[in-house]
Amino acid sequence: MIPHDIRVVLTELYEMGQKNDAETQEKSKKMLNLEPDTAQFLHLFIQSSRRTRILEIGTSNGYSTIWLAWTASVTGGQVISIDRDPQKQEQAEMNLQRAGLRDVVELKCGDATQIVAGLPGPFDCVFFDADRYSAPEQLAFLLPKLTPDVLLLADNVLSHPQEIAVYLSAVEALPLFDKVILPIGKGLSIAYRSRAES
Ligand SMILES: C[S@@+](CC[C@H](N)C(=O)[O-])C[C@H]1O[C@@H](n2cnc3c(N)ncnc32)[C@H](O)[C@@H]1O
Repeated sequence: MIPHDIRVVLTELYEMGQKNDAETQEKSKKMLNLEPDTAQFLHLFIQSSRRTRILEIGTSNGYSTIWLAWTASVTGGQVISIDRDPQKQEQAEMNLQRAGLRDVVELKCGDATQIVAGLPGPFDCVFFDADRYSAPEQLAFLLPKLTPDVLLLADNVLSHPQEIAVYLSAVEALPLFDKVILPIGKGLSIAYRSRAES
């Protein structure tokens, strides 16, 4: 179970994010944190499948990153998390420190597609939660860097169906992956491959 002190940080962060998003008009200043149920599900799913090389695209203030970092600390893994907004990543850095999880996460600031293109990998779990339009290009860069046994996750399938449609088509076209859309929170796409070759 997630330790009480980390849950306190997460609850506070989520409430602050909700308040910020309700009061802020400008989309780029919104935190747009995962729904708590989705975050908890990701944690359970990723922990139970013992993922250790986790990539998150879309850090924001670190809400989901803390969930992933706690997961990685249980599995003995590491998280790389990318966001183009330096102020949000500063907040994420502070929040990860408060949660005692800073060591588990490498924060990278910049355009996710450019950063992903330069990452060596390998990754056994990728969580797409940034702008949905660039996710297909990021996926293309990531394909050769995935472990044979890999999970691809993406939020906002039900909340932004048009924006995420190209990503979903790209995932649908991937051979050897089982795919499902889970109606949790804003809708979660899950694709899982247990091996790279048939
Ligand atoms: C939905 S929020 C992420 C929420 C976070 N995963 C959470 O649950 O706490 C999306 C984030 O992706 C970032 N972002 C959007 N497009 C991006 C891109 N092309 N490259 C890097 N970051 C991007 C935004 O700055 C924003 O912080």
